[in-house]
Amino acid sequence: EETGKGEYDHYMRKEIDAQPEALRGTLAGRIDGDDVHLEEFPPGTFEGVEHVHLLACGTSYHAALVAARQLTRAGLPTSAFRASEYYDLQPVDESTLAVAVTQSGETADTLGALRRAREADARTAAVTNVVGSSVSREADDTLYIRAGPEIGVAATKTFTSQVVALTLLTHRIASDSEAGTVREDAAEFLAALEAFPNAVEELLATTDARTVSDDNMGRDAHFFIGRDFEYPVALEGALKFKEITYEHAEGFASGELKHGPLALVTTDTTVYALLTGERGEETLKNAEEAKARGTHVVAIAPEGMDVGGVAGEVLRVPDTHPDLAGLLANVQLQLVSYHTAYGLGRSIDKPRNLAKSVTVE
Ligand code: G6P
Repeated sequence: EETGKGEYDHYMRKEIDAQPEALRGTLAGRIDGDDVHLEEFPPGTFEGVEHVHLLACGTSYHAALVAARQLTRAGLPTSAFRASEYYDLQPVDESTLAVAVTQSGETADTLGALRRAREADARTAAVTNVVGSSVSREADDTLYIRAGPEIGVAATKTFTSQVVALTLLTHRIASDSEAGTVREDAAEFLAALEAFPNAVEELLATTDARTVSDDNMGRDAHFFIGRDFEYPVALEGALKFKEITYEHAEGFASGELKHGPLALVTTDTTVYALLTGERGEETLKNAEEAKARGTHVVAIAPEGMDVGGVAGEVLRVPDTHPDLAGLLANVQLQLVSYHTAYGLGRSIDKPRNLAKSVTVE
């Protein structure tokens, strides 16, 4: 049944596998050729918006970082803020759209940030999974991600669905606002988005994540590197890893390795290099720099990319639009974290000291 674990040992594993279905829920009825239809946000909703602030915590913040890049490229200057850090940093007025991104809709820091934006005259919106949650009552309008209930404390399917929902929202804002421009390859991109649940399905059926986790269990530290859309994925990969394995994990912008983190790289560490997307080849060069210091490199790479010589192991992701490939890479990393935590005997669905939703500031 929907709320039970069924054949699974953990809700997290069930929710990882549920991603194709969750995504179909997120997308249902919302794409039509080269246009996006959001019942909640009819065309014209975002007229007059000149810039966007995305407010979020934890995994939702990483989804917001992906969306900030998409919106900025669509001509709308956008910043993603950790909700607990959203104080008097930026001019806010009626041309500001403040979007709270929160799976539960109950995170106190996110609700607080949204109130501060509204008090400064921003227009407000929410992107959430929970119908009737506090955020949906507080925001002017709400886009539901429709991923189905998520029980595991570590967010998995809701991250993927949040990014996809925010991608649809980006299209709507870019169409409505004078400042925005809809991407030139909209038809092709939206077709890839519609086919995306199938790509996740293919990945889930073919993944070698378990072998990679067995091979890397017990390393001193696990580093995740990526650039562009893959940078938030590196942060998310590391967050998931530390949340459920309790091992030392950090995510870095791959170009920043040489400005500090390389000092941490030894023969006893693993670097997970996100080689998907338009900037994958550049990250491969950064992975090579790490490899030269003796670290073990696990590549997460598209089919057909030559990673020989740098990567000791590789997890492949199926073909998709380059701007979506990082989300597939993230699914591989969810699985690596899960299998590692399983192998270490951790409390996967309820990690120590963490809660599914944090209702205190
Ligand atoms: C808690 C959870 C995280 C989640 C964060 C934000 O810290 O353990 O998994 O990402 O809250 O939650 P939200 O419901 O606002 O997305």
